[in-house]
Amino acid sequence: MGGDSMTDDRADDGHGMTTDLRPRALDVAPGGVHSNARLGHAEMFFERGSGAHVQDVTGRRYIDYVLGRGPNLLGHAPQAVLKAANAAAESGMCLGSQHPLEVLAAEKLRSLLGWPGMLRFTTTGSEAAELALRVARAYTGRQEIVRFEGHYHGWLVDDAPAPGADQTAARWPAGVDPWTHMLPWNDEHALRTLLERRGTRIAAVIMEPVMFNHGGTLPAPGYLRACRRLTEACGAQLIFDEIVTGARLAPGGAAEVFGVTPDLAMYAKGIAAGWPVAAVAGHRAALSMVEDGTVNHRGTYNGSTASMAAVVATVDAIADGQVHRHIEAVGSRLMSGFAEIADKVGVRLRVRGFPAAFYIALVDRDPGEPWEEAAPPDMSGYRRLVAGLVDRGIWASARGNWYLSAAHTHDDISTTLRGFRDVLASFAAGDR
Ligand SMILES: Cc1ncc(COP(=O)(O)O)c(C=O)c1O
Repeated sequence: MGGDSMTDDRADDGHGMTTDLRPRALDVAPGGVHSNARLGHAEMFFERGSGAHVQDVTGRRYIDYVLGRGPNLLGHAPQAVLKAANAAAESGMCLGSQHPLEVLAAEKLRSLLGWPGMLRFTTTGSEAAELALRVARAYTGRQEIVRFEGHYHGWLVDDAPAPGADQTAARWPAGVDPWTHMLPWNDEHALRTLLERRGTRIAAVIMEPVMFNHGGTLPAPGYLRACRRLTEACGAQLIFDEIVTGARLAPGGAAEVFGVTPDLAMYAKGIAAGWPVAAVAGHRAALSMVEDGTVNHRGTYNGSTASMAAVVATVDAIADGQVHRHIEAVGSRLMSGFAEIADKVGVRLRVRGFPAAFYIALVDRDPGEPWEEAAPPDMSGYRRLVAGLVDRGIWASARGNWYLSAAHTHDDISTTLRGFRDVLASFAAGDR
């Protein structure tokens, strides 16, 4: 990827900035962004992505470990998916009826995942989470939901305003909260106690099977199995939010890795190489609640032809395991390289997760077991670490999440490790 699309008259006044874009964005959209998840880097404007790299509007190129917050499992603009999606789009995007590709996409995804009876496509992960909860409520005839501190299930479920904002003004739907129990995760005792007390009123227990949105904490040995047993015993639906983990940790996601089958699960970021598709998968009896209209699920853009072609091409690309083996190799090198470098320069670093998606944090005490509650990290130190990496052409999230793709090469990893060593060395020299 070169700087060929750049024009000479764009003023460069910092990473990803031109003099005019940010004020124009601020004028036309709240916060100058179209997702509050991007407020933290609202000044960054990328103009293209290719493979494992993104290029900002000033022509600067970065190795990308954010990957659009996960969806680019095959790298940016993967040729096979692009070709298939473009060909489908040529025949029309939203035909307003059924299309052969949506049958094929659902069949392929179901056989990749291995366990579901059926699935329903949505357009975003947030909608999929909302749908899964409605299905669980309709199927069980119960209202109450159990969820866990630090787990994210999309902005429809997570309607809490930002800290400091009016905590009552912007919530929707009002009245969800009285039906929601928030528990600490990885605490079998807490879940058992609640389910013994109120189990017959609980429709669903929903969780990320790995805490990728908060610390990268793994499930404690046996914890997911215990959740499976406890929910079965009281007739609650176990919902895995596999929007990050699905098709990424393994073709069958966390359910495959940990050998625990949920009743319902949501998928999104691993299944369509960046095209806007999500899905709720589950057993037939539960999803039939949608068929007879007990649960109303609609969506103008659901199953659009290009998106369905993208699912088919993505599943085809990952089904033989090659992609996962490559990501395992490059991601493991990066994880162990980070840990070794930190060790050498005497900086305490917590590295948690899987080669395809992991989490790092600067900590001031022993990181502990990967399933133990993480002590709060040094976020301001970490932000400075990320700023140093960005200076060296490495685009990483200031929250600590790292994503690897099929397009990252061993050269990318070597460059990243060199950059990381330089920044940490400057920390050790007192710049932190
Ligand atoms: C675990 C999890 N669930 C749900 C969502 C929401 O998905 P979307 O942003 O597509 O609405 C996300 C998005 O980051 C997520 O990480």
